[in-house]
Amino acid sequence: MTPRSFLLTPQLADYVRESSEPVDRIAADLIAETAAMAERGEAPATMQIAPEQGAFMRLLATALGARRAIEIGTFTGLSALYVVSGMPADGSLLCLDVSEEWTAVARRYWARAGVDDRIELQLAPAMETLRALPEVETFDLAFVDADKTGYPAYVEELYPRMVTNGVVLLDNTLRAGRVVDPQTDDDRAIAELNASLAVDPRWETVLLPMADGLTMLRKR
Ligand SMILES: C[S@@+](CC[C@H](N)C(=O)[O-])C[C@H]1O[C@@H](n2cnc3c(N)ncnc32)[C@H](O)[C@@H]1O
Repeated sequence: MTPRSFLLTPQLADYVRESSEPVDRIAADLIAETAAMAERGEAPATMQIAPEQGAFMRLLATALGARRAIEIGTFTGLSALYVVSGMPADGSLLCLDVSEEWTAVARRYWARAGVDDRIELQLAPAMETLRALPEVETFDLAFVDADKTGYPAYVEELYPRMVTNGVVLLDNTLRAGRVVDPQTDDDRAIAELNASLAVDPRWETVLLPMADGLTMLRKR
């Protein structure tokens, strides 16, 4: 089972999901395969984004007319599948991850959806890949969903590489509510980042209480 918003009752979480775009066959199979991997102890299924969050990200990619996008933290590929589905036929998505095993699942589903030719996957620590990218305004949309203590540095590296009005999405920015009373290094990193982004004049910042918290940053 993919994560639901911790802020909603199970009944309301179901209602939110049922009131958004339905999950298509390929996404449903990917969710089921990831859940089966989790049952075998091969992957934590809770890492996958919720389908209603995917529907929102696909809508946003389309509304922005995003032609170049980047994802930090791909796992078995569900968020990438949603984002690339919202991009035009000549759009492209660069995915950064370190796991060959988990992204092998992603590649299979991207091929089945016919979007594999629009996705480039780079397997290396994301900071290395990011720093090697030219510091020019390239990306219309970015999604950050990897190691939480890395987020502040990812946001800094993304800034010069985003177009003006480009949008960066940061996942898990409520940490299941623990941002108000941080328990772990990950919680503290996100709580400090949230506080600094709220007053950072370079970005217009909105923290959406969707799923586990999804922060939207628009580059001014
Ligand atoms: C929460 S999961 C991503 C979930 C994915 N967005 C989805 O919807 O299924 C986090 C991913 O980040 C990757 N990751 C963790 N640390 C990383 C790093 N330093 N560089 C690149 N990828 C990293 C992990 O291998 C994992 O696949």
